[in-house]
Amino acid sequence: MKILVTGGAGFIGSEFVRQAKDHEIFVIDSLTYAGDLERIKCVQDHINFSRVDIRDKETLLKVFKDFSPVIVVHFAAQSHVDRSILNPYEFYKTNLIGTHNLLEISLSSGVELFINISTDEVYGERRYNRPFRENDPMNPGSPYAVSKAAADMLGRAFMRTYGLPVITVRPSNNYGPWQYPEKLIPVVIARALMNEPIPVYGTGENTREWTYVSDTVEAIYKIIEHGKPGEIYNVGSGEEFKNIEVVKMILKMLDKSENLITFVRDRAGHDFRYSLNIEKIQKEIGWIARTDFQSGLRQTVDWYLKNINWLNKKVKSVRDYWNLIYNNESYRNGS
Ligand SMILES: NC(=O)c1ccc[n+]([C@@H]2O[C@H](COP(=O)([O-])OP(=O)(O)OC[C@H]3O[C@@H](n4cnc5c(N)ncnc54)[C@H](O)[C@@H]3O)[C@@H](O)[C@H]2O)c1
Repeated sequence: MKILVTGGAGFIGSEFVRQAKDHEIFVIDSLTYAGDLERIKCVQDHINFSRVDIRDKETLLKVFKDFSPVIVVHFAAQSHVDRSILNPYEFYKTNLIGTHNLLEISLSSGVELFINISTDEVYGERRYNRPFRENDPMNPGSPYAVSKAAADMLGRAFMRTYGLPVITVRPSNNYGPWQYPEKLIPVVIARALMNEPIPVYGTGENTREWTYVSDTVEAIYKIIEHGKPGEIYNVGSGEEFKNIEVVKMILKMLDKSENLITFVRDRAGHDFRYSLNIEKIQKEIGWIARTDFQSGLRQTVDWYLKNINWLNKKVKSVRDYWNLIYNNESYRNGS
């Protein structure tokens, strides 16, 4: 099968590319600070890659003409909530306009299936006494989540209005190897290894549902095979933890002191808790997450220890950003 993967040099997209077995893969990625070809080096002889920005319609048209994809799996996005608070406009351009370009060209190129990777954040923070189901209304709480909700709706509108076969996938928080150290788990690992203060937002009570990245990708492959166009699938593990619990687990695995924990001013508009109802994907697709959080976290920590050079390289590039958002004035004494 000919699959065009957008954002295939990113954290989740690269896992999808590494797991591709019999498929013919064409990756496009603009290689922002978050993209890195190193992630797909091990499969470089079996795939095609082109540095393309999804905001650039002309170049996209050329890629579709040359490769003629049957399936598009769309991961490319500005993906970090804190950066969307600093610079929301960039998020609308890539996440909404970029998605629009891909949908429009997929339609005119006869693409047979468009997998639109959305997020659990489109539901907003948990507000019922149960996890979110696929047909619950959206209530996005950050510029990132709004841009993803808009892209999510646009994909479904392209199916309804023009008949493009679109499946919407809403994964929970992912973790695992190769994640850029701006997201919680690699930030904690990196800073703990350097014995630097570990910033925890607010009181650390915010809760996320964690899914191991290779499980999410397995779910996406199963959705390609068994999913129904027009449908939405939540992809989660059912395992929820408070941020502070995650931080303490990592410190324990690294044999580091909890004294490193430093509570910092909370993220503006910080959603308190996300959680997904995952019955639909279990029943209709036959997928369930294999990796429990403890063992996934252990594998992740071990991967960073083994790939410390990559982590150090990323730390160099992320440090200015860390200084900006965890700056000293916003630290407050925590215990
Ligand atoms: N990481 C998570 O926990 C999570 C959870 C749910 C949903 N998602 C969604 O999954 C997708 C992948 O997330 P990720 O964590 O791998 O993100 P990431 O930030 O690691 O990777 C995004 C990739 O997209 C590329 N990119 C960004 N802007 C681009 C543009 N204009 N044109 C072409 N390429 C561009 C980047 O270079 C990078 O390689 C995103 O759509 C994200 O919203 C992520």
